[in-house]
Amino acid sequence: MPVLLSADHPQPLPVSLAAVRGDAELLLQLCGQQPCDWSILLVDDPLMARLNEQYRAKKGPTNVLAFSLREGEAYSDDAPLGDVVISLDTTAREAQREGISLRRRLQILLAHGLLHLLGHDHERSEAEAERMETAERQLLNRLDDKQRRTSMINLAINVDHIATLRQARGINEPDPVLAAGICELAGAAGIVVHLREDRRHIQDRDVYLLRQTVKTKLNLEMGAAPEIINIALDVKPDMVTLVPEKRQELTTEGGLNVSGQKKKLATVIDRFIGAGIPVSLFIDPDFKQVKAAKDIGATFVEIHTGRYCDAVNETERAKEFNLVAAAADEAHAMGLRVNAGHGLNYLTTAPVAALKSIEELSIGHAIMARAIFVGLDQAVREMLAQVAGRR
Ligand code: PXP
Repeated sequence: MPVLLSADHPQPLPVSLAAVRGDAELLLQLCGQQPCDWSILLVDDPLMARLNEQYRAKKGPTNVLAFSLREGEAYSDDAPLGDVVISLDTTAREAQREGISLRRRLQILLAHGLLHLLGHDHERSEAEAERMETAERQLLNRLDDKQRRTSMINLAINVDHIATLRQARGINEPDPVLAAGICELAGAAGIVVHLREDRRHIQDRDVYLLRQTVKTKLNLEMGAAPEIINIALDVKPDMVTLVPEKRQELTTEGGLNVSGQKKKLATVIDRFIGAGIPVSLFIDPDFKQVKAAKDIGATFVEIHTGRYCDAVNETERAKEFNLVAAAADEAHAMGLRVNAGHGLNYLTTAPVAALKSIEELSIGHAIMARAIFVGLDQAVREMLAQVAGRR
């Protein structure tokens, strides 16, 4: 195991260690290094301040310290490289200041620490500092090239709101089946509908018709109630997304408590997988729920983006964004396929769409709200531009 990554931090870490280890291994490889021991320790500010004082006689924490084991005497190519210590607290502050994810800031510090271990230094002379800066930029560019998405993230559109409007009048328009066709023609990669037990918006007729008309992918969102499970098994959508469902809620409020009902959900998953229907579990960005979803055989998880979208200030938003990114990375590293959604709009979608572990976003309300003013085709195309990172 060339990269030995460990964390000594009192709080749960808002980053996937599996993803960070993968980044470090790739950086090592991109530096042309033979597999060799590289130890990385993630700590908090108080511990970093103690190390900074002990080894550099400097007060207060810093972001990264590097201790090379290859200085001085001759060493072989597979000799241990050394240690890099990173303060997660300082990294999180820097990430927020720069408007980037915690994982991205860690990548920058890992690249910086690694170059120190390989002999670079920015304190000896200006020329060396410039050389190190160039090497760091090139290394990060090569990392980005390797990790670049090969395909665009999919946009799946939830058309429940069209049915809500129809049900308000109790007549037959507007029709969510027609809306689904317009969304597909505008470029949506999938259609999502939630057949609720109280049938407040989508009706059984919609689901059966959509099964016949949707040409991309039909994702049936549902609570794990026996009646709805039977309908889903009969309709055979391309996938189902299991969500918690409460009668009084306006929309799905939180993620599934997978870890608290593993046995029940595992039985439901087995029935769908047995019928050839992949199952996604809608979960909060929480490692415990990610692990439970993996344990019981889910194919996908859909990471709940609601708290990120509802954040009332930038600090809160950055914190919630890191939780979404970390949960997506962790799920991806475990071999789960990863979707995300809830509450995403024309301002909050682009950063989530840039996360490489996520393959599909599920968006409804924001698109339908805009469609009232600019038309559905235009609203979908504008959201696709956000998803593609073009504003
Ligand atoms: N994902 C899930 C699991 C949902 O329940 C919903 C809401 O129906 C969405 C995504 C879409 O959320 P919004 O309508 O806020 O875009």
